[in-house]
Amino acid sequence: MKPHPLLEQHYRRPEEKPEFVKELFDHGASHYDPVVKWGFFGSGDFYRGWAQRRHGLKPGMQVLDVACGTGLVAAAAAKILGSAETITCVDPSDGMLEVARKKVAARFIKSGGESMPLPNDAFDFLTLGYALRHFGDIEVAFREFHRVLKPGGKVLIMEVTKPSDRFRSFLFRVYFRRIYPFFTRLFTRSREAEKMMVYFWETMDACVPPETVLAALRSAGFREVTRVPLLGLFSEYVAVK
Ligand SMILES: C[S@@+](CC[C@H](N)C(=O)[O-])C[C@H]1O[C@@H](n2cnc3c(N)ncnc32)[C@H](O)[C@@H]1O
Repeated sequence: MKPHPLLEQHYRRPEEKPEFVKELFDHGASHYDPVVKWGFFGSGDFYRGWAQRRHGLKPGMQVLDVACGTGLVAAAAAKILGSAETITCVDPSDGMLEVARKKVAARFIKSGGESMPLPNDAFDFLTLGYALRHFGDIEVAFREFHRVLKPGGKVLIMEVTKPSDRFRSFLFRVYFRRIYPFFTRLFTRSREAEKMMVYFWETMDACVPPETVLAALRSAGFREVTRVPLLGLFSEYVAVK
């Protein structure tokens, strides 16, 4: 199950997507934290911690943060756990990993989330923050998440979801398609950072609806699959192995 149709303005064939996405984040990495901070009005660090706490993250747990990026989810988890010793972070982008390594003393592995060099039944809690849209196939990724989680282990997927009603969908489009990329370019003076945020919008706009994500989780073998919507904008998908 593809998270969105092929975006032909960026890649002509599905096989070209991973390289495009990797380059996008490699080049945008140094701008990611500040851009995300002001774009979400400084709420990101608090929210990433709050979501993990509400869904049961506790000290002593083995945590896997897939698509760790610059380490924002892992850094919030480390505060809850009391240290980053039991956190493993996975991401294919060298640029994003370089920033993350300076931020949090976790174990880092350069890899895509669809096939990870990790043993079966190893983790209590798996997080995926704002990266669902970057996979080639979400069902393949979810099967891999299921494999590495211990029985009873939990997956928490955080995403931004396009509102379904017309008015909020219009505001969403104006902000993420126009205002956010414009100010990103203005503040960073980086064409690459602007491109990263335009792509952010394009993938959100084209993303499959929440029901499809829930169905893919079930089909990958998860149970107790639910979605917690927040402010009509954020989605937390939670499921248990
Ligand atoms: C928008 S960033 C999110 C970073 C972080 N999770 C956060 O909450 O800020 C998306 C990340 O997904 C990573 N990514 C892209 N394709 C991936 C894949 N196939 N498997 C794992 N991570 C991937 C990118 O390199 C990037 O670091």
